[in-house]
Amino acid sequence: MLTLTGASHAALLGIGTYRASLVVPNDELVQAIDSSDEWIQQRSGIKERRWATPEETIQLMSVEASRQALDNAGIDPRQIDCVIVATISHLLQTPAIATAVAHELGTDKAAAFDISAACAGFCHAVALGSDMVRAGTAGHVLVIGVERLSDITDIKDRGTAFIFSDGAGAVVIGPSETEGIGPVVWGSDGEQFDLIRQKEDWRDVLVAETPEMPNLVMQGAAVFRWASYEMAKIAHQALDKAGVTVDDLDVFVPHQANMRIIDAMARTMKMPAHVRVARDIAQQGNSSAASIPLALHRMILDGDAKSGDTALLIAFGAGLAYAAQVVTVP
Ligand code: UT7
Repeated sequence: MLTLTGASHAALLGIGTYRASLVVPNDELVQAIDSSDEWIQQRSGIKERRWATPEETIQLMSVEASRQALDNAGIDPRQIDCVIVATISHLLQTPAIATAVAHELGTDKAAAFDISAACAGFCHAVALGSDMVRAGTAGHVLVIGVERLSDITDIKDRGTAFIFSDGAGAVVIGPSETEGIGPVVWGSDGEQFDLIRQKEDWRDVLVAETPEMPNLVMQGAAVFRWASYEMAKIAHQALDKAGVTVDDLDVFVPHQANMRIIDAMARTMKMPAHVRVARDIAQQGNSSAASIPLALHRMILDGDAKSGDTALLIAFGAGLAYAAQVVTVP
């Protein structure tokens, strides 16, 4: 049997994003949830969020972000051997939206599949992509994190209405002369399965007297405590596995779940002043699987991160699933 020969190293070769076009400020939401702009900003750091129009489908946002990422990487779609889409809001359960995205982009019948790891989906997919490139099962992998969470958010639910948002981010992963994607530290705590979830499954919806969308529900305070205390430890493990310390970092891109969690993690980790911290949540809200690439790309566009910088990514959410790795900014 022949053995596969992979690349010695893998790296992020390019990044692209698509922000949903509707800008929804807090004031537009507060009446339905008896809240205020001040409360939302104080408790979450969110000033406004992006919601998609009906035309801005999961497929459209994925394709737009991917075209940018491919362009940025200088890679032709036919060089992509595998497309991985991380999402929880592609409401057609099968087939995988990755297959339609791979086709629309003009890949040469690339392998394509979706993964479900909620807010940690992008970091999971980056881990898979880099392992595939190193193993030789794919030359180049396109990883997309995409959500239309507004489709499964109840705008009358005080605990979630102001948080979730829509958008897409994509990266091309390919061979590299130096290591650009550190070892992943990942895991799950299924004992806390119920803390963030869809309210019910489709069978329950169908038998209900008044069928309603199975929207997301969240026990926010419990997730907040878990993320604030546990995730800094995971982030440290990712640094250790990559053989770097916080002093070696240029950029810190935690999942954009809550500005207070971002601040708590940076504080607990004693992040040095020179490390730029992603704070995309203020304008974007929490876009789950799209949150990290959207936040990283904004930093690149704003000049807060540049190609070659060392960045720590960490994502966490429903499951509770989490993943972290150190990467070189493309
Ligand atoms: O992306 C996946 C991972 N997700 C996360 O990491 C989310 C983590 N959780 C959070 O971000 C926060 O828990 C929230 C922003 C969702 C909520 O903030 P909190 O500081 O945990 O608020 P809380 O739920 O503990 O509620 C505090 C108070 C309560 O009132 P009392 O009991 O203190 O009088 C709530 O009734 O705030 C009240 N409250 C609200 N008030 C105004 C709850 N929701 C609202 C609201 N507007 N929307």
